[in-house]
Amino acid sequence: MQVAVFSSKPYDQQFVETANGPYGFALTFFEPRLTIETVGLAQGFETVCVFVNDRLDAAVLERLHAGGTRIIALRCAGFNNVDLPTVERLGMKVVRVPAYSPHAVAEHTVGLILTLNRKIHRAYSRVREGNFSLQGLLGFDLYGRTVGVVGTGQIGAVVAQIMLGFGCRVLAFDPFPNADLLSRKVAYVALDRLLAESDIVTLNCPLTAQTRHLVNADSIERMKQGVMIVNTSRGAVVDTPAVIDGLKSGRIGYLGLDVYEEEANYFFEDKSDDVLADDVLARLLTFPNVIVTGHQAFFTHEALTSIAETTLQNVADVAATGSCKNEVRSSPAKK
Ligand code: NAI
Repeated sequence: MQVAVFSSKPYDQQFVETANGPYGFALTFFEPRLTIETVGLAQGFETVCVFVNDRLDAAVLERLHAGGTRIIALRCAGFNNVDLPTVERLGMKVVRVPAYSPHAVAEHTVGLILTLNRKIHRAYSRVREGNFSLQGLLGFDLYGRTVGVVGTGQIGAVVAQIMLGFGCRVLAFDPFPNADLLSRKVAYVALDRLLAESDIVTLNCPLTAQTRHLVNADSIERMKQGVMIVNTSRGAVVDTPAVIDGLKSGRIGYLGLDVYEEEANYFFEDKSDDVLADDVLARLLTFPNVIVTGHQAFFTHEALTSIAETTLQNVADVAATGSCKNEVRSSPAKK
């Protein structure tokens, strides 16, 4: 089986090649993202293996199909970048890695919370300049604070448990409450109430039509003064210009983003020699109370090992049986 691996960095190649031992697929690694401009590279590959910022819209899928591709193997959980109705119409298969290390993403989420609160990013630079002043570094105890978790699937559930460990009151919003969390004193409430009562709002839901711009001018207005918002889900869950307004007015006191709506042009690349052309991202980076990380929440040894192994097993399953437990369909059955 010929597999074209797009968006592949040296670390992807390392982990995927290691996992390929038992499978023996013929792997070809392409560094560019899969887009309409690069889709020609996939000509003749039965499987393409892609990541979060590869664009599998109708035009790309048509070209892939015409070139002989039948299997799309996502090296990620989210599948918002794939036009599923077109996949189904063309009779292709899409497989994903539904859970690789929820701990990786949850722990990074908590890392952002701690860093924003205790201003560790500012302390790091300050101390290296010989400035040991504490002025401006005042934080708050997490103990006793209210944390609102939007989306309590694999990742959100771990975030909720960690925050319970800090002694926080945890509110949750999810159309499908998690029984285990309910038994651990997590209170499922309406989204409006979660937004109104939370000191920290963490976004751990997928990007769907319902969650696109869930954080917008209107919902920000309903949040607590000085709220902390952390988004490690998908960029478009947040309306970025609206959060910039919220930061300028002080309604939002802290913002942690691992994902950004327009990240595809920047994230995973070294752009340090370029002029930053995205004015929204540039503005975000000026705030002392904003931390942006470049979609690295998943980036742990355990997660990359699990992603590589599951991805190749998914391909093997589809090749052998025509189906796979990790197949993505237009209307996925709820777990
Ligand atoms: P999951 O599928 O286990 O959980 C998602 C949860 O969100 C489900 O319980 C679902 O019922 C809930 N949900 C769906 N619609 C909702 C809505 N309108 N409001 C509130 N909750 C809603 O997914 P998992 O593994 O927890 O991942 C969540 C998201 O995190 C992924 O979809 C992906 O976008 C993102 N992610 C980000 C990574 C990163 O490196 N920053 C890595 C992995 C995932």
